[in-house]
Parts: sequence; structure tokens; C-alpha cells
Amino acid sequence: AIERTLSIVKPDAVAKNVIGEIYSRFEKAGLSIVAAKMVHLTQEQAEGFYAEHKERPFFADLVAFMTSGPVMIQALEGENAIAANRDLMGATNPKEAAAGTIRADFAESIDANAVHGSDSPASAEREVAYFFADNEICPRG
Ligand code: CMP
Repeated sequence: AIERTLSIVKPDAVAKNVIGEIYSRFEKAGLSIVAAKMVHLTQEQAEGFYAEHKERPFFADLVAFMTSGPVMIQALEGENAIAANRDLMGATNPKEAAAGTIRADFAESIDANAVHGSDSPASAEREVAYFFADNEICPRG
């Protein structure tokens, strides 16, 4: 089915100047960028986005990292977009990420891991709506 998923190019990858290389991987895999914005997240925005991780030991470091510099946020649309994006990203820990994935090629550590992608249809719906109003999304149809 055609799905939408929320993708974030994290501060480490923005600082490395590889937004375009990452976008190219989405497009070559058949995913279309249907909404996008560059944002320097506030602490409140980052905490709200990652609310499900609030009790995890890495939460404070995660929020500090995600507010350390600008991020590029996009909604991706395409066939099986949620799983397709996760395949492109590779494992959360870049040391475990398969060769040729975004995290294997661009990420340094489990914190500075280049990209975020929604992990389920429910989180994709919440995460896309967290950053984009309906009228900021341009469906490809
Ligand atoms: P992301 O997909 O953005 O979702 C939560 C983030 O927390 C994750 O990527 C990692 O960058 C970060 N993180 C740090 N430590 C861990 C951990 N032990 N398990 C999962 N995620 C972690």
C-alpha cells in the first residue's frame, strides 16, 4: 500500500552536508518527498517528539543531540514507505548497520546516527502530524 512516513536528517548529517545524498537515496528507492522543512528544534519540540523514550536512560542525551543544530524534516510517500525507509536507514546502531545503508555510510554512533524514521503506521501518523499540517503536505497521488 502507499504509505507516508516521517524522516529526519539529524544534526550530524546536516553538519556533514549530506542532505542531498540522503534525499537521493530516498528518490532512487521510489520514495517521494511530499513535505520538508529545516528546523533548529527547541527542547520542548524534541522532548515531545521523542515522548515515548522519556523513561529511557538515553533520553536526555537524545534531546541534547537533536537540539544541537538544525535538522531537515520530511514526509516520504511511496509503496511500503515505512519499511522501505527503515531498510534504507539500516540498524539504529551504525556499527550494526548493513553495508550500503545510510547509517553505515554516514553515521558515527548510536546517538549521532544520521537519520530518524517512523517505525510503525501508528508512529508515522503521529510523527508526520507532529511536524506538518495537512496543508503543508503535497501528495504525489
Ligand atoms: P531514533 O530512530 O531517532 O529514535 C530514538 C533515538 O535514540 C535513536 O534513533 C538513537 O539515535 C537514540 N539512542 C541512543 N541510545 C539508544 C539505545 N540504546 N537504543 C535505541 N536508541 C538509542
